[in-house]
Amino acid sequence: MSKHLIIFDTTMRDGEQSPGASMNLDEKVRIAKVLEKMRVDVIEAGFPVASPGDFEAVKAVCEAVSDTTVCALARALDSDIERAGAAIKSARSGRIHTFIATSPIHMREKLRMQPDEVVERAVASVKQARRFADDVEFSPEDAGRSETDFLCRVIEAVINAGARTVNIPDTVGYNLPDQFGALIAELMERVPNSDKAVFSVHCHNDLGLAVANSLAAVMKGARQVECTINGLGERAGNASLEEIVMAVRTRQDMFSCDTRIDTTQIVPASRLVSNITGFLVQPNKAIVGANAFAHEAGIHQDGVIKSRETYEIMRAEDVGWAANRMVLGKHSGRNAFRARLADLGIEFKAEEQLNSAFARFKELADKKHEIFDEDLQALVTEEGLAHANEHLRLVSLKVCSQTGETPVASVALAVNGEEKQARAPGSGPVDAVYKAIDSVVQSESQLQLYSVSNITSGTDSQGEVTVRLEKAGRIVNGHGADTDIVIASAKAYINALNKLVAPVERTHPQSGQPI
Ligand code: KIV
Ligand code: ZN
Repeated sequence: MSKHLIIFDTTMRDGEQSPGASMNLDEKVRIAKVLEKMRVDVIEAGFPVASPGDFEAVKAVCEAVSDTTVCALARALDSDIERAGAAIKSARSGRIHTFIATSPIHMREKLRMQPDEVVERAVASVKQARRFADDVEFSPEDAGRSETDFLCRVIEAVINAGARTVNIPDTVGYNLPDQFGALIAELMERVPNSDKAVFSVHCHNDLGLAVANSLAAVMKGARQVECTINGLGERAGNASLEEIVMAVRTRQDMFSCDTRIDTTQIVPASRLVSNITGFLVQPNKAIVGANAFAHEAGIHQDGVIKSRETYEIMRAEDVGWAANRMVLGKHSGRNAFRARLADLGIEFKAEEQLNSAFARFKELADKKHEIFDEDLQALVTEEGLAHANEHLRLVSLKVCSQTGETPVASVALAVNGEEKQARAPGSGPVDAVYKAIDSVVQSESQLQLYSVSNITSGTDSQGEVTVRLEKAGRIVNGHGADTDIVIASAKAYINALNKLVAPVERTHPQSGQPI
């Protein structure tokens, strides 16, 4: 059995299915470059048939990376597969991932197909996908609730049809570790041609077991794990890449395989995904949470000072927690700025974009003397927002806030280029700003989340604000960063409002519904 555990990252496909986590083309390219630097084996970059934007993003990722396979998702439909094939055409190494549900409930209620028809469709889709790529993956969706005899039949048929990877999804996160491990062992044992394909797993986290189930499957012979940065994904998310990789690496005494991941890229990737999607990482999250390596209890601190291994099973620096390092400052020039961005995998297509980002950098360096990588990532996200087709733009903002007085905000906004002004009181400065903006926009959206976090340490740090808005069932996230958290809050709100007015024509890969 192979010693290599393939890491298949689906942050930009399944992760993007989290309400509000959508990413634009440039953001996907930035994430793809970091994943490539991390030495992820396969990047699932999107679902090309979902929208022209998804198609273009998958294409752009194919052009941006060369050391990683780029995969496109397709339902078991000719139109989906053709679109996926066209999207990965320029990839140095491209894969099509096609799927159809095999559980009784999905076949009966969702597909309204008989099991025989499902087998036929699965086989036809794999054959069709092989016309566009040698590397074809098949998933029996909701395998975790499918009948094992039927799974064996489908898997044998798709391997004969040319599938090189067979992925077993626990789509609804229903399985328990022993059960899921046993399922993988049984499938590998009973399917006569199982040695002709790599067995993969794709676990959702509805019962908090996605990582445990994936690892149980690896123990039983699975050699690909589908996972996401920060565990982002549908509902409770997918198995988290950083936890899978570090569990296998740290417990080499228990695993007969390992990944080729450069673990020092884990924290930068986690920060980038959080920064782009606005999904914050909880402080006690394993590996990438702010407290993951912090020792509070005196007895622990004492132990760690005497010998690190007393309380630490991993080294913070091995997963990319370098001590905050000043990378640039107010006297850094354009070349140093450009070189540092290139190190972070960021390149601007046009010189004028670099100039405008550099001007923002200088403004920031005037307010904040030390500029860290995290500041640069936030600055580039802001730069992308500034160049997006904005319906609303913040022109100016003034807030009066003093003890014993009601805060009042005055804002000037450009609405489709026309300047409008408003003034509103609020229970606090942020509330006043949001009320003033709303009096101009009248968005009728509901604020579901407002959160502020510091990008780096110190009181001169930039504050990063995330807001989540809901309107008629649609959920969007907005974010903004600034050393002034009231301005960051206004930027985040405006970013979310701009997303709400943008048209959506995407479809959900599994339900087929517009999202
Ligand atoms: O969860 C799931 O079943 C999926 C498939 C498309 C693999 O995401
Ligand atoms: Zn999934």
